[in-house]
Amino acid sequence: MTSSLVIAVDGTSGSGKSSTSRGVAGRLGLRYLDTGAMFRAMTWWLLSEGVDVHDAEAVSAAANRPRIESGTDPLAPTITVDGVDVSVEIRSAEVNAAVSPVSAVPAVRTRLLELQREAIGDGGIVVEGRDIGSVVWPQAEVKVYLSADPDARAERRAAEEGGADLARTQQSLLERDRIDSGRATAPLTMADGAVHVDSTHLTLDEVIETIVGLVGSTAP
Ligand code: DC
Repeated sequence: MTSSLVIAVDGTSGSGKSSTSRGVAGRLGLRYLDTGAMFRAMTWWLLSEGVDVHDAEAVSAAANRPRIESGTDPLAPTITVDGVDVSVEIRSAEVNAAVSPVSAVPAVRTRLLELQREAIGDGGIVVEGRDIGSVVWPQAEVKVYLSADPDARAERRAAEEGGADLARTQQSLLERDRIDSGRATAPLTMADGAVHVDSTHLTLDEVIETIVGLVGSTAP
């Protein structure tokens, strides 16, 4: 019944999109696509090629070159660039700092949009990102906009990163939010028809349950 279902989970950096989306996919037997990982993989590749990530023209000219592939198993998602697994490398501080400007370049978005729609295919998938419900798959049966207070987001992300500096983590998250929300092409926004879930005071299981509950109530 749920095999063609698409669940779009958009939201700010560190709002818990990945853990939540993987949990929902696991519960419902769906695939999982992390579109942020695709932007990160593109950014990692540009940095490793020595492309100036703040030069939009240079980024545009290179955007079609890397082969980026996402594995969609929620228990073991993978991301490769030209066949090399870069799951760890894409979480570095260098990528964190460069990914928002790269994501604002229209040629990057056009390229990855194509790959994202290909991966979604016939559905049966939870897709997380910033513009899934608004641009990538506006016809998604369930759309969620996940948010949390900046303090909660920074605490979670710093813990994930093995006790990184809290103030610096928060600054980095807010800077990405600012660029992601302010860009001209496909900015982070609450899509039409999205349900806003604030995870600040909810456990991961509670957020997952809330979204699973939406499937029963809104999917055809
Ligand atoms: O979800 P994340 O933090 O891994 O995403 C990294 C960056 O990728 C984020 O700062 C903005 C960009 N991104 C985007 O522009 N559109 C998406 N659908 C997903 C991510």
